[in-house]
Amino acid sequence: QELQMNLEQIEKGGYDHFMLKEIYEQPNVIKDTYRGRLLANQGIIQMAGVEDNLEKFLHADRILIVACGTSWHAGLVAEYVIEEFARIPVEVEYASEFRYRNPIINKNDVVIAISQSGETADTLAAIKLAKEKGAFVFGVCNVVGSSISRETNAGAYTHAGPEIGVASTKAFTTQITVLTMIALRLAKAKGTLSNSDFHRYLQELEVIPEKVAEALTSTNEKAKEIATKFKAATNCLYLGRGYNFPVALEGALKLKEISYIHAEGYPAAEMKHGPIALIDEQMPVIVIAPKQGHYDKVVSNIQEIKSRSGKIIAIVTKGDTQVKGLADHVIEIPETSDALSPLITTIPLQLLSYHIAVMRGCNVDQPRNLAKSVTVE
Ligand code: G6P
Repeated sequence: QELQMNLEQIEKGGYDHFMLKEIYEQPNVIKDTYRGRLLANQGIIQMAGVEDNLEKFLHADRILIVACGTSWHAGLVAEYVIEEFARIPVEVEYASEFRYRNPIINKNDVVIAISQSGETADTLAAIKLAKEKGAFVFGVCNVVGSSISRETNAGAYTHAGPEIGVASTKAFTTQITVLTMIALRLAKAKGTLSNSDFHRYLQELEVIPEKVAEALTSTNEKAKEIATKFKAATNCLYLGRGYNFPVALEGALKLKEISYIHAEGYPAAEMKHGPIALIDEQMPVIVIAPKQGHYDKVVSNIQEIKSRSGKIIAIVTKGDTQVKGLADHVIEIPETSDALSPLITTIPLQLLSYHIAVMRGCNVDQPRNLAKSVTVE
């Protein structure tokens, strides 16, 4: 028993939980993910699995992304980034829905399956179906040699290292890193991004680990302080637009998974079509409002919440003054371009759920009823 405890403490590397350790590993694992693949100074992005199959990607009528849970959220970010950079139509689907609805798949479709574990039964079944219909299937997995990585025609690993906490953190940001690199590689081949934009994104991606590190240091205390105020909440709303809409979904999922607080993520503009009815002084609303992106629109969403007495927790770019005047609490993050912002905005949301769960006495690493990989349908 004692030996077991000590071993676990060593494995946690001085952190109280695996989840926290994995949150803090993100600057390093994002670097591991792009190492040898992103050569910003030379203007090169290369991934063997993509290079070997470049023609398939370039001739794709569309890209279909299948995944579950957090990986599905990474897929949604990829939809925005691939469509914007490479101008290839993308559809994102829950693997479980995809396989049970007789989907239309053609030989010219590229299917990207995203999975941390590489063992999710529904995702695996979706891949088999896509292959039967003749599609080329590309895997984005973390676990090397996993079933999905073997079942796919090609792929790119995320190199996040073992993720033990059931709530996915570093797998998410490394998935986004790989998918953004794919988008950039395809954009270069297709000429859909200007040379200067392409180079700028490469440079920005290269410094993302430093910004993630900065976000970890600068937002943790604030997230903890906010957690003390909202740990007893029964509901929570997460709002974001554009690239940060999937981040809102992921933020809400993290809170649900480990703290058992009911949370919902919404595209900020959809608030008026329903969720606004829920807003009163009891309702914490987390709004992702970085400077880049649809800032002014998000500011007016914040005003709508304020006029209904909702409690606003805003994620803003360092130096922001406008939202500060409106929100009850602000968390400042380093600036980056809109397309890369999910890699940064995610960080305080992970920390916020972590602290709330700890304060509520929840089992952070092994939440009730959840499994790290779901190998049943
Ligand atoms: C489970 C895990 C989630 C994960 C999802 C998909 O529900 O608890 O954290 O996002 O499966 O897993 P995968 O391994 O396919 O990414």
